[in-house]
Amino acid sequence: MPVLTNIGLLATCRPEGPQDQIHPIRSAALAWDNGSILWAGPEADLPSPYRTWEALDAGGKLVIPGLIDCHTHLAFGGWRADEFAQRLAGRSYLDIAAAGGGIASTVRDTRALSEEALLERCRSFVEEILPLGVTTLECKSGYGLSLEDELKILRVYRRLADEGPLRIVSTFLGAHVVPSEYRDRRADYLALLTDQLLPRIAAEGLAEFCDAFVEESAFSVDEARALFRVAGEMGLRAKIHADQLTNGRGAQLAAEVNAVSAEHLECISEEGIRALAEAGVVAVSLPVATLYLGQSPPPVRRMIQAGVSVAVATDFNPGTAPSFHLPLAMTLACTRQRMTPAEVLKGATVLAARAVGREKTAGSLEAGKVADFALIDAPDVETWLYHFRGNACLLSVVAGEVCWRSPGRN
Ligand code: NIG
Ligand code: FE
Repeated sequence: MPVLTNIGLLATCRPEGPQDQIHPIRSAALAWDNGSILWAGPEADLPSPYRTWEALDAGGKLVIPGLIDCHTHLAFGGWRADEFAQRLAGRSYLDIAAAGGGIASTVRDTRALSEEALLERCRSFVEEILPLGVTTLECKSGYGLSLEDELKILRVYRRLADEGPLRIVSTFLGAHVVPSEYRDRRADYLALLTDQLLPRIAAEGLAEFCDAFVEESAFSVDEARALFRVAGEMGLRAKIHADQLTNGRGAQLAAEVNAVSAEHLECISEEGIRALAEAGVVAVSLPVATLYLGQSPPPVRRMIQAGVSVAVATDFNPGTAPSFHLPLAMTLACTRQRMTPAEVLKGATVLAARAVGREKTAGSLEAGKVADFALIDAPDVETWLYHFRGNACLLSVVAGEVCWRSPGRN
């Protein structure tokens, strides 16, 4: 039954209010038991029973909810540094993909790895992700694109979730691209997804969400709509890679199928923004991918003005976003998307929780929610995101247990 005292600023990130309202409490304390928060408030008001509990000293620094990276492609084989160099020399992402590189090349490298080897690779990423203050990670499949290889990836995620301490949310992205062996048989590939993969995934409880890359070079709105209908019948809610490279009306589809989130959105239209706002779909912005592809950022200010909640995530993958550094994505969301640090923090905590269906249990520091939080070596959110460092996190706590401690800190 521990309590964290001497918190300089507790960013509770309770969900109510506008995106820039993070409900901060100065000179705060936090008490938890059995992995759940019992009390959060000004230390002067700490109820007397908690005053005798074992206390951890926050040293007057910033405490935030455990960060939620609500969009990653964690399990993949190989890297694509060669394509990075080609893109820098002027070749386009779509041109590389059309020549058999891009996603198809990562599919080849992912298929070549055993489940054990893939798990080992994911573990090595997780070892570096947890110290950043990230406590929940959404993980997509999508580099297997065959019955066995998609199941292999989702089993890796299940094993990672079982191992803990990082909380894992699994998403099935069989509709990433049509793999080359099905190039002239698109309908057969879609049938593999709907008739074989989705039933197996639902029966084994291997994913909570079904994603699709809606784009000229991947899947059409009609194909994705049909996929989401079957997924919905099996209890998997939709997430969509929408309007990333072109405006393909992915945002409107997200609203129509009641998706939990629409992601990327660099090319979203005004009509798409209105559709997301009316349907209450979370927009997930991915500034690392925008940066690596040399794109203009999504119109985040217009989205927020229209009433859309905007989350921030890494999109960690070997092609468009080869970094799992969520605080880096957060600083880029400030500088390139013109979001305030408070808006960004809410976007990487409680709004990200909404984007992965965890808003009832995670993402904010209030009684009844999980005791997932991070201690940051900064006095406030502005200083933290302005002064970008390799890692400013001092402690990562999941379910009330310290899972990572900065070297040199007791
Ligand atoms: O989110 N847009 C589609 N999928 C990934 C990129 C995948 C890749 O290039 O390997 C993304 O950016
Ligand atoms: Fe992605």
